[in-house]
Amino acid sequence: MKGIVLAGGRGTRLYPSTKAVSKQLLTIYDKPLIYYPLSTLMLAGIQDVLIISTAEDTPNFKRLLGDGAHLGMNICYAVQKTPRGLADAFLIGESFIGNDNVCLVLGDNFFYGTDITMILNKASQRKEGATIFGYLVKNPQDFGVLELDAAGNVRSIEEKPQHPKSNYAVPGLYFYDNRVIELAKQVQPSARGELEITSINNAYLALGQLHVELFGRGITWLDTGSPSSLLKAATFVETVQVNTGYYIACLEEIAWRRGFIAKEEMIALGEALKMTEYGQYLLSYRGEYSND
Ligand code: TTP
Repeated sequence: MKGIVLAGGRGTRLYPSTKAVSKQLLTIYDKPLIYYPLSTLMLAGIQDVLIISTAEDTPNFKRLLGDGAHLGMNICYAVQKTPRGLADAFLIGESFIGNDNVCLVLGDNFFYGTDITMILNKASQRKEGATIFGYLVKNPQDFGVLELDAAGNVRSIEEKPQHPKSNYAVPGLYFYDNRVIELAKQVQPSARGELEITSINNAYLALGQLHVELFGRGITWLDTGSPSSLLKAATFVETVQVNTGYYIACLEEIAWRRGFIAKEEMIALGEALKMTEYGQYLLSYRGEYSND
């Protein structure tokens, strides 16, 4: 399976912070925002990743992550000239996806919690159809929203409805089979002028091929597009890291635990960062032999 991080956009809700730099390069506590969605793809076992961003910001992502070889990954880059919508990712990424299935994660989406790796692996192993998620929120009108029947089956998905039919928002993490490319080509711009991902999800629903998993209370999902949600995410990361001693979205550690790189390689990456707590965290695994 291939992975795409959609990390363009205008970031207008974060102006002036994002006037000169991509939202996805802003810091969440101790690492750039893009580390978090990228870690989600890695936890799903995905090693081939395309990062889509603006022409101005793409060189900065390249400086940050390179070709991904140090993480045992293959990271490549593509430019989205204008923010035409989320479904544009599959048009831009067509040749990268090739004949594979694909997972799209939005560059400002943060996922953390119990069993997340298991949930992601289950979705990535599904060969046919689409898998999306549902998450209870207080402000569903800001998202794609699920309409569920009494049995919990999805009847429709509405994009940013004025009168939401449930409180289940659809987070920015979507798994698709290869048909997504053809379905994306058929999407027409919405009233707000965007190629909506909701159109693709509804197309899978019409085909009877949309799987929806509801995240329970053990999972934290944050969409970090506003100043207060950025701060909330930073506070969350600091609290979890300090209290548990485990880091969130430490890419080198995940690469090691997923078997993308050897432990010695992770330790060498830690050496290069040893002036930071992040580097010291990697080095703390030096004496341990277990892989869990
Ligand atoms: P949004 O938060 O909807 O848009 P934005 O990032 O431009 O922010 P704002 O509303 O403050 O102006 O985008 C969600 C994510 O998807 C974000 O990580 C940016 C990315 N994105 C693109 O890369 N290309 C696009 O065409 C769109 C619509 C979003």
